[in-house]
Amino acid sequence: MANTIKFNDNYPDISKSDELYKRALGLIPSVTQTLAKGPSQNIKGIAPKYLQRGKGSHVWDVDGNEYIDFLMGIGPLSLGYSYDKVDEAIQAQLKDGITFSLMHPLEVEVAEMIRDIVPNAEAVRYSKTGADVTSAAIRAARAFTGKNKVLCCGYHGWHDWYVSVTARNYGIPEAVKDLTYTFNYNDIESVKGSIDDDTAAIILEPFVFEAPKDNFLHKLRDLCDEKGIVLIFDEMWTGFRVALGGAQAYFGVKADLACYSKAVANGMPISILAGKRKIMDLFDKDIFFYTTFGGEALSLAAAKATIKELKEKNVPAYLAKQGKRLKDGYNKIANDLGMNYTKCTGYECRTIVTFDASAGNPLELKSLVQQEMIKRGILWGGFHNMSFSHSDEDVEYTLKVYKEVLPILKKAVDEKNVKGYLKGEPVEPVFRKTSDFNTKPKEKVS
Ligand SMILES: Cc1ncc(COP(=O)(O)O)c(C=O)c1O
Repeated sequence: MANTIKFNDNYPDISKSDELYKRALGLIPSVTQTLAKGPSQNIKGIAPKYLQRGKGSHVWDVDGNEYIDFLMGIGPLSLGYSYDKVDEAIQAQLKDGITFSLMHPLEVEVAEMIRDIVPNAEAVRYSKTGADVTSAAIRAARAFTGKNKVLCCGYHGWHDWYVSVTARNYGIPEAVKDLTYTFNYNDIESVKGSIDDDTAAIILEPFVFEAPKDNFLHKLRDLCDEKGIVLIFDEMWTGFRVALGGAQAYFGVKADLACYSKAVANGMPISILAGKRKIMDLFDKDIFFYTTFGGEALSLAAAKATIKELKEKNVPAYLAKQGKRLKDGYNKIANDLGMNYTKCTGYECRTIVTFDASAGNPLELKSLVQQEMIKRGILWGGFHNMSFSHSDEDVEYTLKVYKEVLPILKKAVDEKNVKGYLKGEPVEPVFRKTSDFNTKPKEKVS
């Protein structure tokens, strides 16, 4: 899609966004259903709060302002908004029905597609959210090993077993909190230090932004085999994106279980648990994992159309190509300006822009960039979540905007007055903790 965004003279009018926000305050606790989409992640007073529609890589807020979107629904829009082939599949299915009284043929068809694409997918189950399938995977690991403890190192959803390790663990029984521990990514010793005889599962995102070093994933695989621990890859972000077969295919490491959701159905709510038969067979009779909307047909139709398109168009290669142009382009602009305190890192399909504390409060630096990106028609949260709809024009325009915005940041940093340039309240820290995240089971603490 051609880019129609223009450099704006001013910050967008967000009065309709603010009206809705006022109505939600006090009625919808925390205001948002997805933390990453809520007001805490966007500079207050400048950023729009509600989006009305999207097409391709562009979105329109409730006030009618148009933006290039680099958040893409926080991951799901791997093809783009209102993507014709997926929408047509949903519409065709809608004519026949959404949810049925018996099983639907698409359950089988999509499972066969997943089996053919995902390296460890000897068996497949569906659910609705990412947390559903990571939780099902944990239950399966416990059932299979007869052990209880879980080790993780990233974000895996809102359920008790995971959120117990975070600061927002109110309402979770102590007994549950005692069962999940963490390790540092790329630090095999921190994994070994957190394992004990009761460790059932190690779950991790194969990578977040940092690449696996020194065969970390292979070492984890070996360690799990040696200790009888189930290895679970949380492929919400890597699945169907870094390669069609996800990180398992990309790195040549098979997990015992793998969890997918975000990129599977271009925005429709579906999640997938895939894995080795010997574990997945427990779902036949022993483990209870059923939900009313698990076989809902619109999402399955969307998944079928999305996966077909991802494959036929080799979308992972496209995401990597466009993402690389943005990543390299950003780093060149920052380098040319001598701004060694900001860089863009990560695998090309999803990169992150970071700011070093040496230049000031990173949240304020990020807020200033966000504010100026928004002024120029780019919805930006510090990430480039690439989609098949991010066109050459989008990429070129975005780099042009970075060329204009980074000097503003540099000036503010040089003047030691970043806060003074902010027109609203800065963004808050992200909830997702992925580093310095190493806790050991209590009996292991010396
Ligand atoms: C890596 C990872 N795992 C699990 C989840 C949870 O997925 P959901 O929000 O669909 O429950 C997320 C969501 O952001 C995620 O990024």
